[in-house]
Amino acid sequence: MGGQGAAIDTVAVIGAGAMGRGIAQVSIQGGMNVLLFDAMNGAAAKAAEAIKAQLDSLVAKGRLPAADADAAKARLAVADSLEALAPADLAVEAIIENLAVKQELFGKLEAILRPDALLATNTSSLRIASIARSCKHRERIAGLHFFNPVPLMKLVEVIRAPATSDATIAALVKVGERMGRVPVVVQDSPGFLVNLGGRAYTQEALRIVSEGVATPAQVDAVMRDVWGFRMGPFELMDLTGMDVNFPVSQIIHEGYFYDRRLATSPLHQSMAESGQFGRKSGQGFFRYGEGGKGEVPSADAVSESAPITKVALAEDDDALAELLRGLGFEVSGFDDGQSPILCAPLGEDISSYAARRGFDHRRLFGLDLTGRTDQRLTLMQAPGAVRALRDGLVAQFIAAGRKVCTILDSPGFIAQRIAAMVANLGCEMAQIRVASPADIDKGMMLGLNYPLGPLALTDRIGPGAVLEILSQLQSITGDDRYRPSLWLRRRAQLGLSALTED
Ligand SMILES: NC(=O)c1ccc[n+]([C@@H]2O[C@H](COP(=O)([O-])OP(=O)(O)OC[C@H]3O[C@@H](n4cnc5c(N)ncnc54)[C@H](O)[C@@H]3O)[C@@H](O)[C@H]2O)c1
Repeated sequence: MGGQGAAIDTVAVIGAGAMGRGIAQVSIQGGMNVLLFDAMNGAAAKAAEAIKAQLDSLVAKGRLPAADADAAKARLAVADSLEALAPADLAVEAIIENLAVKQELFGKLEAILRPDALLATNTSSLRIASIARSCKHRERIAGLHFFNPVPLMKLVEVIRAPATSDATIAALVKVGERMGRVPVVVQDSPGFLVNLGGRAYTQEALRIVSEGVATPAQVDAVMRDVWGFRMGPFELMDLTGMDVNFPVSQIIHEGYFYDRRLATSPLHQSMAESGQFGRKSGQGFFRYGEGGKGEVPSADAVSESAPITKVALAEDDDALAELLRGLGFEVSGFDDGQSPILCAPLGEDISSYAARRGFDHRRLFGLDLTGRTDQRLTLMQAPGAVRALRDGLVAQFIAAGRKVCTILDSPGFIAQRIAAMVANLGCEMAQIRVASPADIDKGMMLGLNYPLGPLALTDRIGPGAVLEILSQLQSITGDDRYRPSLWLRRRAQLGLSALTED
């Protein structure tokens, strides 16, 4: 019956709030007995009723056999004191997010539970090592980080502190699986896996909007249509709320000693401080009316101009030529001095491209060819671009059945810039051993609904191309924010997949 490595029959869940309830529910559904405790009088009993009602509703919807629900309910017991948790093989703490309170609880649990019982915390932002600091048997303490709502979110991060034993990790992975979750093993570092990995998507989007390149609605539309993200970064921030995601960004940036790659934007702080939290306050990047539906302005360019169909290519580019011909353009390699000139740069903005190659920047336009181009195109221009030429191009794209976002100059447009930052952060997480490459991808897909993991995304674009995008961004902006991870650089140099271990 010992905790480490042996079977875990009884789980003590401490804290019967939103998370504790979910953890208790998946534990009893996974065949374990649960002792549920909460410091507030009557809270655990109320939570137990809510869990039972939840199981009844699964039965009513035909998603759980009635006999299984009855058996699960019989495994749930309310504990009236901490001492009553003594028989537990594993304790999972889900109380208030306060270090001193958690440390005190762990001290008490150590005195009450057997010396070989496992102790786990569901903390989102505290270091497991800090919570375990005053305990005697720190090898049996780890993080077990679930996501809200627990029964619906399949992922659980099993977090290894410096003192945690391999046996404890192995036992918690097994427990996670019995609870019907998908466990990933993660180092005890700021933001763990998912909260760290999610920074790039929203923070680079904030950066792009802060630079005046595009609107939040345009960035969202591009990330949905080009890369297949379920939600754009701005609708996602509005959903989690600026009161939550701004402090998380700050904690993680500080936790990594102000690595520029993890910095958020003053715009993020302004939104949080002005109380424009998002959905919950009725106003974030978008306004939310009755019923919570967002009023999102259109991201699609419109044009009153006659279509322009004659274009020159800035350089030989088969993919760009093929795309343009497919959209009804007459493509020439010769610049007639009047027609728009088109290019498809990787990581370079139109201004740099025009200056480097000696093109007329007023007639030079860029199209982003990374990701899908069959739904939406992104057309980028330099300062001083001839508006009539842009509108003529837009008219032809629309006539050919494509949606278009017209944006101002940005090294890496929108899609390739955000994707490169997501990819680079995934690579850096692999390099600094936050988790294995496979677990990084699994974690980001299950924890944040990404259409593919950051390392698979690196491979999709190509490690060499991601390195090129970031190197250009770093050199054009002079900002260390775009510093490529060594993990990425080496795999690009050697022609390897980003998922290659070691
Ligand atoms: N809500 C989320 O999305 C989420 C996700 C992952 C992790 N977490 C973490 O899970 C933990 C719990 O979060 P929550 O959202 O369920 O909070 P909650 O406020 O819904 O519930 C906390 C419960 O703990 C009880 N409690 C407080 N101090 C206690 C103590 N000393 N002993 C016993 N019970 C005590 C409270 O009475 C309350 O019922 C936090 O550490 C949080 O960071 C939350």
